[in-house]
Amino acid sequence: MIWLPHMKATPVALAVLGSGRGSNFQALAEAIDAGKLDARIVCVIANVADAFILERARRLNIPAEYIDPAPYKTKLSGAAEQQVIDRLRHYGAELIALAGFMLIIKRRLLAAFAGRVVNIHPSLLPAFPGLEAWKQALEHGAKVTGCTVHYVDEGMDTGPIILQREVPVMTEDTPESLHARIQEQEYLAYPAALQQVIAKIRAESRG
Ligand code: GAR
Repeated sequence: MIWLPHMKATPVALAVLGSGRGSNFQALAEAIDAGKLDARIVCVIANVADAFILERARRLNIPAEYIDPAPYKTKLSGAAEQQVIDRLRHYGAELIALAGFMLIIKRRLLAAFAGRVVNIHPSLLPAFPGLEAWKQALEHGAKVTGCTVHYVDEGMDTGPIILQREVPVMTEDTPESLHARIQEQEYLAYPAALQQVIAKIRAESRG
């Protein structure tokens, strides 16, 4: 079909991968409801069986699946990775958002969804990649930190940056208070960054 400017585009099929609490997933779902993100969440996949993100998805009637990453803790096994790809294809996912997904994504999955896998990280990358980035910021005496949304490549929290939001570090900050303020910014950054990616995907598909 030829796209004409007055036509409303179909919401992009978004899949969310997580390992934990799922508050970013929740923020994405709310941004969609508020008309700020032109997507529909087609599934949530977690590598932790009792991750609260799965429960949040079920409450919203979104398909929620656990995939066992065994035998590894930091990456998906080859079989588990293929299973994730198969499930993402089953749900027709067009864009993949990692939201607190604590495993490294490997080449096969990245190739299956080239340029369509995005991550959020709680620091101003390239500073403080890896675990508990807010703690790293405090330990280094950083005066400013924040969050970053970026395309995923094979590194850990590397890949081209889409959007960042800053958060000042206060002298009285604890790891918990700093992470909480970073998360407030994440809930704004992630929908905005994904909306930029969706605009790019649509522009490319129109040629
Ligand atoms: C978020 O702060 C996210 O940026 C971080 O995990 C948290 C998940 O919270 N991700 C990373 O550190 C990735 N390296 P959530 O489950 O409540 O969205």
